[in-house]
Amino acid sequence: MSETHSATARAHPNIAFIKYWGNADDNLRLPANPSLSMNLDGLYTQTTVTWLFEPNADRLILNRQPDTGTAFRRVSAFLNILRARLNITGSAQIESFNNFPMGAGIASSASSFAALTLAAVSAAGIQLSERALSTLARLGSGSAARSIPGGFVEWFTGQSHDESFAESFAPPDHWDLVDIIAVVSSEHKTVVSQEGHRSANTSDLQAARVAGAAERLAACKTAILSRDFKRFAEVVEHDSNLMHAVMMTSRPPLFYWLPPTLEVMARVRQWRADGLKVCYTLDAGPNIHCICVKNDAEQVRQELSALSGVVDVRAALPGGPAALVDVNG
Ligand code: DP6
Repeated sequence: MSETHSATARAHPNIAFIKYWGNADDNLRLPANPSLSMNLDGLYTQTTVTWLFEPNADRLILNRQPDTGTAFRRVSAFLNILRARLNITGSAQIESFNNFPMGAGIASSASSFAALTLAAVSAAGIQLSERALSTLARLGSGSAARSIPGGFVEWFTGQSHDESFAESFAPPDHWDLVDIIAVVSSEHKTVVSQEGHRSANTSDLQAARVAGAAERLAACKTAILSRDFKRFAEVVEHDSNLMHAVMMTSRPPLFYWLPPTLEVMARVRQWRADGLKVCYTLDAGPNIHCICVKNDAEQVRQELSALSGVVDVRAALPGGPAALVDVNG
């Protein structure tokens, strides 16, 4: 280890337009299909890692509270992977916080493991390429691979650890898309993604969803590169519906939608028919990510806020890559 033993990094969460659901290899988190996402500006996890020379003393302070539960166990398992792969000895003291609340409809595992990877590697004095950082972050949480690069990002499935990484294909300022999140429930989800990924293959529909993913990804990427909202909306909603069809037909089934979820989805389709450039996508939860162009964002926000089932509305533009933060200056 070099002189520097401490580093602070920030990473944004991301919203997938082509979803990751199910793994070809659960241990290495090699995904069953390629996925595509946009980082969310303004929202971030900030993480400081300090490597100590003493063994067995990993510590996690999460959102200003010491954590020894589920989050700590997951972080500790990830630290073991980093230690083994990067030849780091010693324990890590980690202090991490999100500037967005849990239950805001935004998954924090992507930004958390992306920020943790960059901070841990930098604190050990190791220089890695963006690609290598993305592969490592993937081992903590699949979607974290996509929070390392900036803007609009594609995650390649790969056949091995080194081949499965995410890469930016357009910078944040390429297209002024806004993710307006309609929060219909702020309860924490009961089935974590990790279990969901493991049960994906129990659905008869998963094979068909996976088989068409590369084609949907290509269509989505072309739509983004040519800023073609109509094509973008069609493929994004279709891909989200396919993932939820797999979830609902898994054994045991996973139903994430609540009555207001369906109400918002129907409204979004109607608003688009009426001329607004807006579509929806949903992750493993009931909250709806309404993706729209910046010109229509204020109207979409107002329409969503007026619905009785919507308890909160948040907005984010495309965000940049994970980056180190100079806490002293
Ligand atoms: C529905 O990356 O949260 O949000 O690897 O177990 O941490 P783990 O899973 P995670 O899965 C994300 C699932 C999703 C779709 C997506 O973001 O692509």
